[in-house]
Amino acid sequence: MSGVLLLLLTFFAVSKAQPHSNDPPPSSTVCIVGAGIGGSSVAHFLRKYSPDSTPATKIRVFERNGVVGGRTATVTVAGETFEAGASILHPKNLHAVDYTKILNLKVKEPRSDSLSLGIWNGNEFVFKTVTLSSNVPFIDKLLKLPIINSLVSLVNSALMFFRYGFSLFTMQNFVESTVGRFLKYYEGHGSRPIFETVDEMLQWAGLYNLTTRTLQDELVDTGLSTLLINELVTVITRINYGQSVYMSGLAGAVSLAGSGGGLWSIEGGNWQMAAGLINQSNVALHLHEEIKSVADLGDYYELNSTKGKSYKCEVAVVATPLDELDIEFVPPISIPERKLQHTHTTFVRGLLNPAYFGLKAVTKVPDLVGTIEDPNLPFSSISVLKKHNEKESTYKIFSRQPMTDALLDRVFSVRKETIRINWAAYPHYHAPEVFAPFILDRRHLYYVNAFENAASTMETSAVAAENIARLILSRYFGRVIMHSSNLSASSPGEGTHLDL
Ligand SMILES: *[C@@H]1O[C@H](CO)[C@@H](O)[C@H](O)[C@H]1NC(C)=O
Ligand SMILES: *[C@@H]1O[C@H](CO)[C@@H](O)[C@H](O)[C@H]1NC(C)=O
Ligand SMILES: *[C@@H]1O[C@H](CO)[C@@H](O)[C@H](O)[C@H]1NC(C)=O
Ligand SMILES: *[C@@H]1O[C@H](CO)[C@@H](O)[C@H](O)[C@H]1NC(C)=O
Repeated sequence: MSGVLLLLLTFFAVSKAQPHSNDPPPSSTVCIVGAGIGGSSVAHFLRKYSPDSTPATKIRVFERNGVVGGRTATVTVAGETFEAGASILHPKNLHAVDYTKILNLKVKEPRSDSLSLGIWNGNEFVFKTVTLSSNVPFIDKLLKLPIINSLVSLVNSALMFFRYGFSLFTMQNFVESTVGRFLKYYEGHGSRPIFETVDEMLQWAGLYNLTTRTLQDELVDTGLSTLLINELVTVITRINYGQSVYMSGLAGAVSLAGSGGGLWSIEGGNWQMAAGLINQSNVALHLHEEIKSVADLGDYYELNSTKGKSYKCEVAVVATPLDELDIEFVPPISIPERKLQHTHTTFVRGLLNPAYFGLKAVTKVPDLVGTIEDPNLPFSSISVLKKHNEKESTYKIFSRQPMTDALLDRVFSVRKETIRINWAAYPHYHAPEVFAPFILDRRHLYYVNAFENAASTMETSAVAAENIARLILSRYFGRVIMHSSNLSASSPGEGTHLDL
């Protein structure tokens, strides 16, 4: 804690010492590295919160790939588009809700057909839903618990209750209370500070403690049964983050919220949020251009790219995880070491082999096969995305290691098409989490993805990006340019209000 304080004090000392000039401000350039939801959101909020009086600001976005969207992308199988990366949004993901409105995107409603769930331990299904209906009012009430009703069809929730009991309600409360705290990040600028560190941002919302303990410890203390933790909760964390319940509590809670009801996505692909924000934010987009170095030259940063070009930027924003990149920073920066969890996403068009699961007919295999934590299990989950006909479906498989052909040939009896993607998907979470700074150099070099150690989702990227945009406006434009205007950190908030 005292280290952070020292850092802040040092910053203020330095910033006060810099000479201010009252000359008309020159136009300045904000360079953003990465065109995913984080980078595009920084551009969006910079434009949105900049009053008309802000001098011309150029925004450049650099993307090493040929497309925008980062870890949101789609694949096409049998003429249908499926999310290959970040795929689900929560109803309370209010920035994403806002993006769909302002960008005029179409919301794809959660699927309404019933999905069956099975929990596979490598030998047998330890839990499996079947079709049954209930006339018992209590069960009906249970069936309406959102966390249950998206995972399995309503009618199957009763079975789940018989296995896991009241722990299910306890779990639901835990998730709702965490989501409730997260909603503080949508409060107006009057009551919501601009955060200089991730720690401060999490503490303010009452979420910090959850990053200091494992999900397992948190849930045990909350009163969940071991059975529920080892089975259903594990299934969910393995699906959403490819990790066990030893991940940190906050990411775990976000993962559980991501199995709740009302989940949605964007028709045609979530990447369109990034594309639309970039399109609307008047930015110079540099595709296929990777930034190799960021050098602090005093008044500005010099960004050198793989195209041999140099760009002069007064403000630089890193909006991609630095963990697997080798961007050279001059002078060097230091951030805590972080490992990314790789998730291998395999799409198969074909038909599962029921014999692999010890079953007689493929119709007996659950639509969603989740797994418990066992190092011998070669995959985390297999789900049906679309049933084309009796003989052919499209499946999505998550695994920690690549799915070899030999393995796929055992799991599938028919395989007509296979698409493999290796995502450096999200941080490998552990408790207690240690956070990289939002401000990498105490000047104007920012890092959106520092927040990913709290939880990694499209919405958390947007929330972190919004804070970074406010930091930039107050720390750079507020100080250097806007001293006589009424642009303060707390004024431009009106537009951010969303109906809850
Ligand atoms: C977080 O933990 C500290 C120390 O155990 C405690 O004092 C504080 O009340 C906790 N905060 C929240 C929001 O639970
Ligand atoms: C970009 O925005 C304009 C209107 O602002 C719209 O006509 C155009 O279709 C958009 N392009 C993309 C690729 O979204
Ligand atoms: C960036 O490119 C410029 C111009 O080519 C060069 O002078 C500078 O040394 C490069 N910076 C780094 C850190 O490589
Ligand atoms: C900011 O300035 C604009 C125009 O100069 C004015 O209309 C507005 O009321 C001011 N806002 C505040 C909070 O002072």
